[in-house]
Amino acid sequence: MSSLFDFDSPPDRYAVMGNPVAHSKSPLIHSQFARQTSQKMEYQAILVDEGGLAQAIGNFQASGGKGLNITLPFKHEAWELMDERSEHAERAGAVNTIMFKPNGQRYGDNTDGIGLVHDIVNNHGGRFKNLRILILGAGGAVRGVLGPILKEQPREIVIANRTVDKAVILAREFTSAIPVKACGYSALGSSSFDLIINGTSASLKGELPPLPASILSEQSWCYDMMYGDKPTVFMEWAKQNGAAIYLDGLGMLVEQAAASFFLWRKIRPNTAPVIETLRNY
Ligand code: ATR
Repeated sequence: MSSLFDFDSPPDRYAVMGNPVAHSKSPLIHSQFARQTSQKMEYQAILVDEGGLAQAIGNFQASGGKGLNITLPFKHEAWELMDERSEHAERAGAVNTIMFKPNGQRYGDNTDGIGLVHDIVNNHGGRFKNLRILILGAGGAVRGVLGPILKEQPREIVIANRTVDKAVILAREFTSAIPVKACGYSALGSSSFDLIINGTSASLKGELPPLPASILSEQSWCYDMMYGDKPTVFMEWAKQNGAAIYLDGLGMLVEQAAASFFLWRKIRPNTAPVIETLRNY
């Protein structure tokens, strides 16, 4: 590992691979982390063609790269290309962070769920313990966060999805001492939830699953894993229907990056100023 003041050695190299990737905020986030913690490193965005991930990772590693972030649509494919995986990556079936070990082995982690938990707990003073939690969606984004949420020991998780079968499969896979249930949107409404997390990609299209207002109480928190320039439709819905708190996923984005950075550099960056910068970007 080289520091900023180690003039002789070249910077350690990192990158994010995805398709598309030009919009990625990861280079901006990691360059701020590096400056803040005096790490001599560079971080670029690499566009990878469909079917080209294995070669792209191999090339980056062979050229001396130290680690990678992997974004859509390659998180599952990256999982398959690892020699070793963290517990969270294993259960998520997806890898968003790769560390190349000195012996050449590829270690894959998934920091998305930790990012979500850290944002809610550390940045917003929230919790998961003993709460009734509703998660909207049953795709890769939700699969990626269920393990870390369950570690926080909620009372119960309900996964609601348009395609109910997908929610049933996920719930079956993740249920343990803590019940994880599955349903369709039309089955919601008989009781409220303490925390509702939107993990659907509907927000990206400005759409909202059909949600009855009765799932909210005055104490409910709403969290959209997506974010945009303005509040998402899910946040607007939460506000209009009286949720106590409604948040977007910008903090999650920065926190998952901080967890990757920690894996690579063994230093925890201060996320608050970076979230602030991105919010005003
Ligand atoms: P990701 O990896 O982002 O989770 P995905 O695996 O394609 O992407 O999953 C997208 C999720 O958003 C799914 O739960 C999907 O519901 P279906 O499984 O029924 O397709 C959900 N989703 C997308 N658009 C939606 C919409 N307009 N209304 C409700 N749910 C939607």
